[in-house]
Amino acid sequence: MCSKICGRSLFVSSVLFVITSLILPLPAQSGPKPRAWMNQKLTPDQRADLVLKEMTLDEKIGLLHGTGMEGLGPVSPLAVHSNGGAGYVPGIPRLGIPAIQMSDAAYGVRASGENGRYSTALPADVAAAASWDLDAAHEYGALIASELRAQGYNMSLGGGVNLTREPRDGRTFEYLGEDPLLAGKMVASVMNAEQEAHVIGDIKHYALNDQESGRNAVNVNIDERSARESDLLAFEIALDNADIAAVMCSYNRVNGDYACENNYLLNDVLKKDWKFKGFVVSDWGATHSAVKSSHAGLDHEEPGWIFYGDELKKAVETGRVSQAELDDHVRRILRSMFATGVIDHPSQKSVVDVMHGLEVARKIEEQSIVLLKNEGGLLPLDAAKIHSIAVIGPHADVGMISGGGSAQVDPPGGNAIMPPGQGATAWLEPIWFPTSPLKAIRAKAAGAKVEFDSGANPASAAALARNADVAIVFVYQWESESLDLSSLALPDRQDELIAQVAAANPHTVIVLESGGPVTMPWVDKVGTITEAWFGGSCGAEAVANILFGEVNPSGKLPITFPRSEADLPHPEIVKPPSHSKANPSGGPEWKQTAAGFAPFQVTYNEGVKVGYKWYDAMNKPVLFPFGYGLSYTTYSYSNLQVTAGTHPKVSFTVVNTGERAGAEVAEVYAALPSAAGEPPKRLVGWSKVRLNPRESKEITVEVDPKILSIFNVKTHDWELVPGDYTFMVGGSSQDLPLKQTVALSE
Ligand code: BGC
Repeated sequence: MCSKICGRSLFVSSVLFVITSLILPLPAQSGPKPRAWMNQKLTPDQRADLVLKEMTLDEKIGLLHGTGMEGLGPVSPLAVHSNGGAGYVPGIPRLGIPAIQMSDAAYGVRASGENGRYSTALPADVAAAASWDLDAAHEYGALIASELRAQGYNMSLGGGVNLTREPRDGRTFEYLGEDPLLAGKMVASVMNAEQEAHVIGDIKHYALNDQESGRNAVNVNIDERSARESDLLAFEIALDNADIAAVMCSYNRVNGDYACENNYLLNDVLKKDWKFKGFVVSDWGATHSAVKSSHAGLDHEEPGWIFYGDELKKAVETGRVSQAELDDHVRRILRSMFATGVIDHPSQKSVVDVMHGLEVARKIEEQSIVLLKNEGGLLPLDAAKIHSIAVIGPHADVGMISGGGSAQVDPPGGNAIMPPGQGATAWLEPIWFPTSPLKAIRAKAAGAKVEFDSGANPASAAALARNADVAIVFVYQWESESLDLSSLALPDRQDELIAQVAAANPHTVIVLESGGPVTMPWVDKVGTITEAWFGGSCGAEAVANILFGEVNPSGKLPITFPRSEADLPHPEIVKPPSHSKANPSGGPEWKQTAAGFAPFQVTYNEGVKVGYKWYDAMNKPVLFPFGYGLSYTTYSYSNLQVTAGTHPKVSFTVVNTGERAGAEVAEVYAALPSAAGEPPKRLVGWSKVRLNPRESKEITVEVDPKILSIFNVKTHDWELVPGDYTFMVGGSSQDLPLKQTVALSE
């Protein structure tokens, strides 16, 4: 029946069409206008320009801010269309521009619990850095991207790359260590993977957001050369190695101006010097003005529109912000959407590949665990020879700790120490992933008696240890955004626990779960120590695989472990003066920041001497140096050959001299000519080499001239100081058996 009616009406309308077209001239084009910007042959810039021409002022302003968040200013009714992430920017359907759905995704996708979804928790970012493996970093980013897309997001807010200048920073676990080359290259690899999967990547927190204490009020003072050669260099290297679409400016001030309205940081350095083509997004509540921020280069305010809504619109209408400046902000966002493919390849909600995620999490953790001490070769444990094991430590029967704040991934399976089923997490609540060391160890040593003690009473833990062949003690130090550690010491009397257990049993293994260095007053009394970081969803299985030798450890420290806090450049963290305007008690964060409270000062007099550069320059012995990590095999280095040139080539041989296959991170450092006035050495390259027993490989590391240069503040450019450069090669920043000096000129 339907076809009959349709046939008749078709006939009638065709007749009418013929008649009307005889009478009326047809419009040049009918129906919706063709969207020329959807032509994928055009460049992202061309496509952005074409869209821009069609946009109204309101549509432009709409792209420059989010829709708000409870506690951080007003919330728009449009926010109901948010995908449940930290940020939502409505699209422009009439032009075919999709919404931007942003989610925090430091070590996995955030907020899965409250959204009823699933996310894999990878090992913390600092752990990934300890793998020194660019392929692992790529896999890390690819997994995050696939889960973001499966959940309906198209922008990631991961990518933390602040240098660990202050190891008590509560976000150390979210970052990639203390060296700009390592951190910059690793984050670039993560970002490349995310963007290849059509997710907008973002690196943060630009810049010098190196402590959480008073982060909204602190003013960081640093000289230009030091900033460019340290914290900023990590961002520069990241952008040199990946076309990253977004950079998040931070809460703090730098040399007087808030980072999100800092002309030097945003315009001079990021957009002009580094030729950044993407957009600058403010940290949540880190915008402080409309006109000043716009002039300084802030493109987008999150989470709402305290400044980048009506106030920015009025500023444009009254000419205080030019149309060209406004268009530049909008163009950058559109361009990034085209460049990353979020318009051509929209996210499709789908089922997450849980098993794949868990496998990636385990494999990365296995490559990230650092063996710090193995005196007497207690590890790897031989399950066939062990009759009894004491597993000791807070919650080591059920889980492993994770890093908190906006990086927090809700634990698949629920928080191990909460009632079952309680998946969502609360801000500033330590979360234990349900990956049980006790179970993982029992699975490896099926023939042994494996018993557990929480360590709450060190004496009873020591009693259990005394009668066991081996004692394995899991200790932790929890970290979170918005809190700095009060000290690098392990909390909750865990130092005492270790001392008593180690005194009771010489075969004691310490497994650290931390986001950064800890102090170890017991270091000389314990023969075996491993750093497992915040190990993610499969932390326990990975630790067990290392302890029992199924996997040979290959991680190296991306951060120095100092002997004591007295050895840090700042023995005390500078905190906002209490009861001052900079530290009002209570009140939402955005109100504090928007009101522009008086800053308190932190001065980075140590300048470029971050991490190992500081300890080297000050001749301070450390517990475990940057780049350090043991293996169950041994390696030797020989045949160093440095070829001078604009991109010096450093060639050498690494041999696996032991009986087990392994992977060695071969590190290349350089000492600059004394005229450069630099710390004793800097990392200039590395290669992670996989070697079978007795196998040898020739390695060549090509060194980027920028990484051998200093920043000349007069020319505002990198400069290679002519003179003698000593290249050093080995397995740690303090174990560099090969050395060769060559003369380099510009
Ligand atoms: C953090 C950012 C995060 C944002 C959104 C802020 O508190 O500093 O890293 O991306 O919140 O959750």
